[in-house]
Amino acid sequence: MSGGGTNLQALIDALGPDAPARVSHVISNRPDAGALERARRAGIPVSVLRDPQNPTELLAAIGDAGLVVLAGYLKLVPAPVVARFRQRMVNIHPALLPDYGGPGMYGRRVHEAVLASKAAESGVTVHYVDEQFDRGPIVAQRRVPVHPDDTVESLAHRVLEAEHALLPEVVLDLAARIQQEKTDGG
Ligand code: GRF
Repeated sequence: MSGGGTNLQALIDALGPDAPARVSHVISNRPDAGALERARRAGIPVSVLRDPQNPTELLAAIGDAGLVVLAGYLKLVPAPVVARFRQRMVNIHPALLPDYGGPGMYGRRVHEAVLASKAAESGVTVHYVDEQFDRGPIVAQRRVPVHPDDTVESLAHRVLEAEHALLPEVVLDLAARIQQEKTDGG
């Protein structure tokens, strides 16, 4: 996490005591990220990275997690961490990738670009993380309409609601698959 953590909150709310997966640990590159407060309120352990480019530090924080979710994390994940968690690390992006992604495409800039292009639709993408920003294989997308009178704020709000619905669904699906693979693998 790097920010306010509303996606984290959606996960915490969706993954109740009977869910087959839980948020075991929250990692932030910013000590002031609102996500940390949400985690603490939910009794989830937190770590703040001293150096997000340091793969050893990040790997130690991730530990033996089955799935890593980048939910509003703005730093590039170091290559050794990507390699270790290939197809077990996902990112959520507030647009329909491969469009409107890449370095510097985060926050309001994404929605500004969508509005400037006069696209009729935007949406949400969850994708596996690879060595580049917003480029790994797409896991799931959800579309939302762009209205003629949309502002950055109104579009961002609609997209964020779609994020909060899609992310827990994808995490539950992937958690079930990872659990199955563990069972199959003995
Ligand atoms: C979301 O739009 C997410 O897609 C993007 O950053 C925003 C973070 O929101 N990567 P939050 O921190 O989950 O509230």
